Amino acid sequence: MLFIKTKDYTQMSQKVASLLLAQVISKPDSVLGLATGSTPIGAYENLAKWYTEGLVDFSRVHTVNLDEYMGLDKEHNQSYYYFMKKNLFSKINIPDENIKLPSGVVKDFDAECLSYETYINALGGIDLQLLGLGHNGHIGFNEPASDFPNITHCVNLTESTIQANKRFFEKIEDVPTKAITMGIGTIMKAKCVVLAVNGIGKAEIVQKAFFGPVVPSIPASILQFHPNVIIVGDEESFQLISDRI
Ligand code: F6R
Repeated sequence: MLFIKTKDYTQMSQKVASLLLAQVISKPDSVLGLATGSTPIGAYENLAKWYTEGLVDFSRVHTVNLDEYMGLDKEHNQSYYYFMKKNLFSKINIPDENIKLPSGVVKDFDAECLSYETYINALGGIDLQLLGLGHNGHIGFNEPASDFPNITHCVNLTESTIQANKRFFEKIEDVPTKAITMGIGTIMKAKCVVLAVNGIGKAEIVQKAFFGPVVPSIPASILQFHPNVIIVGDEESFQLISDRI
């Protein structure tokens, strides 16, 4: 695991964006696995800026997102599709047909999970997977569990995740309780993983996930077994591990 410590959120975002930029420049038809949440917003801003400045071309890139809420359609302003459109896709030249997220509104969710996994495999797998880190150690929506789920599947979100997400909804009843997420196996098959993290609130889980035992109760801990992981964090999130990196 490579740890890159940056000063603050701004620098963390620049570093994460530059890793994505390098990936696309070195392989213009890259398959990028993308994340939503607060953490990657700054990185997406940088990518959009660098696209406007002519530094990068996304016309041959394909993207697959980690997850989507069940029950929210693409146009819902809290769907992850909407988030991605707003924060990145509407600002770069990626063709619509190259963008893929699980659908939150299908009739047959099991079929949707299987077809999502098949789609990723048919693309040749993910070249670079961007991840955030949940306070409980989740990656994608792989919540603490008794095993590591392999492929794309449906999940019940934990109470702590629902509470963390409620800031985006008017009332707690509106917060979705289920999601479709790539599995741990889907993520582990990515050729490279970049996990971004910031803020003092993540310091404890960073220490547990990357310097503690590999256990399904801390899903991100599995990344210790991935051969090519880069963890980019700010000083605050790395506070408890700074003497070990
Ligand atoms: C988002 C996702 C989640 C988030 C995690 C951290 O697509 O899959 O695992 O990355 O919940 O969220 P933030 O960045 O809001 O702290």
